[in-house]
Amino acid sequence: MAQYTLGNHILDTGQPRAEVLAAILKDDSINEELFYAANKVKTEQYGNLVFVRGIIEFSNYCRCLCAYCGINARMKDAVRYRMAPDELVEAAVDTAKVYRTVILQSGEDCYYTAEMLAGIVRRIKEKAQCAVTLSIGERSLEEYRIMKQAGADRFLLKHETANAALYQSLHGVPLEGRLDAQRRIKGLGFELGGGFMVGLPGQTDEILAQDLLTLVREGVDMAGIGPFIAHPDTPLRGSADGNAHKTLKVLALARLLLPKCHLPSTTALNVKGGMKNALLCGANVIMQKATPYEYRKLYDIYPGRDAKDIPLREQYEELKEKLAELNLTAE
Ligand code: 5AD
Repeated sequence: MAQYTLGNHILDTGQPRAEVLAAILKDDSINEELFYAANKVKTEQYGNLVFVRGIIEFSNYCRCLCAYCGINARMKDAVRYRMAPDELVEAAVDTAKVYRTVILQSGEDCYYTAEMLAGIVRRIKEKAQCAVTLSIGERSLEEYRIMKQAGADRFLLKHETANAALYQSLHGVPLEGRLDAQRRIKGLGFELGGGFMVGLPGQTDEILAQDLLTLVREGVDMAGIGPFIAHPDTPLRGSADGNAHKTLKVLALARLLLPKCHLPSTTALNVKGGMKNALLCGANVIMQKATPYEYRKLYDIYPGRDAKDIPLREQYEELKEKLAELNLTAE
């Protein structure tokens, strides 16, 4: 037994939490115990259920300059696409026939005004019984309000890294702007999905501890935690990728700190072969690609993303089989 008590007592060691979290991240002798505790807490909350969501990546236009991202505004060679509202509504309604939650994600593309997005959400909600999650980046309070009033249920906006200097160097803008946007979202009553990357160049275990505590402080309802994957066309080309095992440790700690939080096995972690392990280390959500085939390869935020083109229903059946092998059931 290591010096830290896991499970419910992770916070009760008398030391500042950040120090305890960083110490756990550095100590690989504790891993088995950590993963066991995370799986136990997840099972207490969600039993054997895994929530499956369909994600539609509807535009890869982006105004941002995130140094890690393959669709950032400076990627001159990126082939850009945008789905028309009718096309997006149709794709979402089809997705909702298979999955109960549809996630609409894009780069920060101001072509879609808040009113347009609200119209899209409203039409999806009229035609299908599903939860709608938006993942479209930073907007004003008023814009977020318009989307919320149209019926959007959840909003994903990760803080990406909680270290102010690292955030500034990767994004060219201050971290505060991102945190403010998360607070606007949460304040309007959306379920808030936060999250961050593991293994960014210059990131330390102490920063990861801050990342975890940021999720707690901001009261996220969901958190996407995935390894950084170096994209060859970005300024971070040649950097080492984030480590899948370290990502699992961070995920497990997130489960212990936030027992009820929805934690996906992120697509980036799946790229690193981690889906099965993630579901045994605290994750309770899977996101399945539902982007129309013709656009999948173009949504190239990092390399290695699965662009396997099989019909949604078939993809879902395949996933259910994989889950059954782990004694898990898709919900
Ligand atoms: N490696 C890993 N994750 C990335 N993302 C963007 N670029 C990368 C990358 N190179 C993640 C960010 C973003 C989400 C849509 O994808 O966390 O929030």
